Amino acid sequence: MANVIVVGTQWGDEGKGKVVDILSESFDAVVRYQGGNNAGHTIVVAEEKVVLHLVPSGILRMGKICILGNGVVIDLPALTHEIGQLRKLKVRVEDTLYIGKSAHLVLPYHKILDVERERHGSQKIGTTGRGIGPAYADKMARVGVRIGDLYDPVAFRERLAAVLAEKQAQAGLESLLHTLDATTLFREQMQHFEQVKRFLVDASEVVNRFIAEGRRILFEGAQGTLLDVDLGTYPYVTSSSATAGGACTGTGVGPTHIDGVVGVMKAYTTRVGEGPFPTELTDATGQLLRDRGQEYGATTGRPRRCGWLDALALRYAVRVNGLSTLALTKLDVLDTLPHIRVCTAYQHRGNRLSAFPNETGILAECTPVYEEQPGWEESTIGALKLEQLPKACRAYLDRLQELTGVDISLISTGPRRDQTILVDTPAFRGWGLHR
Ligand code: GDP
Ligand code: IMO
Ligand code: MG
Repeated sequence: MANVIVVGTQWGDEGKGKVVDILSESFDAVVRYQGGNNAGHTIVVAEEKVVLHLVPSGILRMGKICILGNGVVIDLPALTHEIGQLRKLKVRVEDTLYIGKSAHLVLPYHKILDVERERHGSQKIGTTGRGIGPAYADKMARVGVRIGDLYDPVAFRERLAAVLAEKQAQAGLESLLHTLDATTLFREQMQHFEQVKRFLVDASEVVNRFIAEGRRILFEGAQGTLLDVDLGTYPYVTSSSATAGGACTGTGVGPTHIDGVVGVMKAYTTRVGEGPFPTELTDATGQLLRDRGQEYGATTGRPRRCGWLDALALRYAVRVNGLSTLALTKLDVLDTLPHIRVCTAYQHRGNRLSAFPNETGILAECTPVYEEQPGWEESTIGALKLEQLPKACRAYLDRLQELTGVDISLISTGPRRDQTILVDTPAFRGWGLHR
């Protein structure tokens, strides 16, 4: 029996979707705990590519229960669209998808506010434009709408009219908020709600009952540690708790039920949107990583900024998530490089820093100090055992474990399920993931 959290250790897009898909085979249920359809989790089964934005990445495993926790924010049209896509792929969601009643809704006015703030506001974040920040802001300001509130259409209609009127009163004359009308909004939302209301449950009650029955729960994080609203590179973050702690508040499960945390780390670093990124490469190597790694956003299609791995940021992720072990993805992307660099310190105004200074101003002034390793210059794609990896590649993995102080339990060498190495580590053995 083990309940495990999967969390991104960088700025998102580490390959959490693939890792959750692989691990979910050994779990009974997968629960998303935060974020919304700003996330894009890609899973490749055989040659088929599926991008999930809201539905947990366990949905492609027959019979696994997939739950959206209360910490998630739901765009109803996006959710019904995603369910429709899954049905087209003959994925059965009828008995396996559960939606937490207290998850908040992302409403059309949130998207308008998000886009207009990015366009005209004082600080551009480079958001996905999905209305995520304004939806979480309303949740905290206690003017949000929870999906379960739609069971009472009269109260929902009143709430919607009041909140929209307040937002319109505060908006500039040019704002598209003035094109919205509460009655149309109400009708559209109710139409989508009718399609999903059969999936609604008290997610905390369900997950805790499963745990009491000895079923195994995998908690799926979206985004990554450095995008966490409290612990990330604020203000260039998303608006939810992407780190491991968010799994408890986002699902209503107590920390005493959690057995460990897997940090997903890409073999290099990427970032989408604005904000400091000390190891960013704007040269040919950066472009090579982007091309070989297909680093284009799964949600917005934007090219991802690419750079070397950053050991300071990773150690920070180990600390704030209490990582038990690591899953390393996209190792194959480094296959052709003659040399591989890892940042082991920062230079800041004449000082050498060895710990991640999580302050945007300082981070923006840091220059990386690199350690260089020889590349292996041969293909690792599809290796199934550690022993099959080139010697220089294994030396690189050993060095990463030394720098982070954490074992690597899973190594991914391609997007597909069969391109995965499971390593016999104490964490994976203890959770029954390596037999
Ligand atoms: P997530 O948001 O963390 O789930 O990651 P994304 O799905 O946004 O981005 C990861 C991308 O890398 C996806 O296109 C995956 O199919 C792909 N991917 C995952 N693991 C590997 C790997 O080991 N090698 C390669 N080449 N691609 C991978
Ligand atoms: P997954 O789950 C990468 C980034 C955006 C922007 C910032 C705020 O696929 O790893 P938001 O729309 O959330 O208000 O944008 O966060 N961002 C992501 N970057 N992967 C994601 O999700 C992201 N979700 C949000 O690019 O910089
Ligand atoms: Mg992604």
